[in-house]
Amino acid sequence: MKSPIHIPVLLRESVEALKVRPGGRYIDCTVGTGGHALAIIERSLPGGQLLGIDADPEAIAVTRQRLAEFGEAVQLVNDNFANLESICTRYSFRPVDGILLDLGLSTLQLEGESRGFSFQREAPLDMRANPSQGLTAGEIVNSYPEADLARLLFEYGEERASRQISRHIVANRPINSTLHLVGVIEQSFRGKRGRIHPATRTFQALRIAVNNELENLQSALRQAVALLRPERRLVVISYHSLEDRIVKNFLRQEEKGCICPPKLALCVCGRQPTLKILTKRVVTPAAFERFTNPRSHSARMRVAERVCPGAGEGTPIADQGSAAKTNIREHPKE
Ligand SMILES: C[S@@+](CC[C@H](N)C(=O)[O-])C[C@H]1O[C@@H](n2cnc3c(N)ncnc32)[C@H](O)[C@@H]1O
Repeated sequence: MKSPIHIPVLLRESVEALKVRPGGRYIDCTVGTGGHALAIIERSLPGGQLLGIDADPEAIAVTRQRLAEFGEAVQLVNDNFANLESICTRYSFRPVDGILLDLGLSTLQLEGESRGFSFQREAPLDMRANPSQGLTAGEIVNSYPEADLARLLFEYGEERASRQISRHIVANRPINSTLHLVGVIEQSFRGKRGRIHPATRTFQALRIAVNNELENLQSALRQAVALLRPERRLVVISYHSLEDRIVKNFLRQEEKGCICPPKLALCVCGRQPTLKILTKRVVTPAAFERFTNPRSHSARMRVAERVCPGAGEGTPIADQGSAAKTNIREHPKE
C-alpha cells in the first residue's frame, strides 16, 4: 500500500530559520517521512550532511527510500531523540550547524491502520511511536487505578472532565479499541460538546504517557545545545501547549544562564547563557498554510542561536528582512 503523504509544517520558515548552508551538517531529530529533511539536504549541497532520527521504524523505512538518491550524505537512525548525544557520538556527527525538532505525529502515524493514534478511525489502543517498545495505551486504559488515570488525563491532556472520563472508563472495562474508547468518552460528556472533539484531550494524554513525550523533549533540548556550533540554530515546532511551554521555558533559562535564587546579590552558580532566543514571539503558520493543511493549525515554532561566553549575539528573526518575515505570523500574546 502507498504511504500517506505528510505535508511538512512551517517548511520554508523552519528551513530559513536553520540558515541551511552548503557543506553544513544538520540533525533532523524527528525525520518522519522526510519532508523537512529533503529541503534541508537539498539546500546543504554540495558537501552537506544530514542525520535523521525517528522513533518510528516505519517512518525511517519510508524516508530511507525517499532520500536514497543522496547516498551517504543522509544517515537515518531508528532511535529516540532522548538519546541524541549518544547517537551523534556513534555516528561521529558533531559539532553540527543546525538542529530541528518537529514534534507530534506524522500523517503516516495518524492514518496508520494499526497504530491507534487517531480518534477518527478504528484501531487497537496502541499509540506507541515504536511498536516494539513499552506500555500501550490499552494497558493504561484497562489497568490504571481510576485516580491515576484521572491525574494522567488532567496533567497530560489538560482535560477538565478527567474525573468523569476516568470513572466511565473504569466502569466500561475492558476497552479494546479506539472507537470503543471514543464512545465511552462521549458518554461521559452527556451530549455536551465544546469546540474540539471530546476525545482530543484524552488521546493526547494517553499518547504523551505511552511515549514519555515530555521527559524525552526536555532531555533532547539539553543535549541539543551541547552539539551546536556557535551561532548555529535550534528550531523547534510544537503542537500543543505542554510541549510549547517546555520549549519556551528551556530557551528562556538557557538565555539567562544564571540559576541562582533572585534574592542572592551575586551569582554563585557560574552558569553562562548558552542560547539567544531569535523568536521573541512564537511563529505560527500563515492563514494560507492553515487553510491548505489543517494539521498545521496548532503549530508553534521557536528558534534560538547558540552563543558562547563573550561571543556576539544573534539577529532576531523578525529583523532579518522580508524573506524571513513573509508568511510568518507572530502570535500576539504569550
Ligand atoms: C510531525 S512528525 C515529523 C514530520 C517530518 N518533519 C516530515 O516532514 O515528514 C513527528 C515525528 O517525530 C517522531 N518522534 C516523536 N517523538 C520522538 C522521539 N522521542 N524520538 C524520535 N522521534 C520521535 C514521530 O515518530 C514522528 O515521525
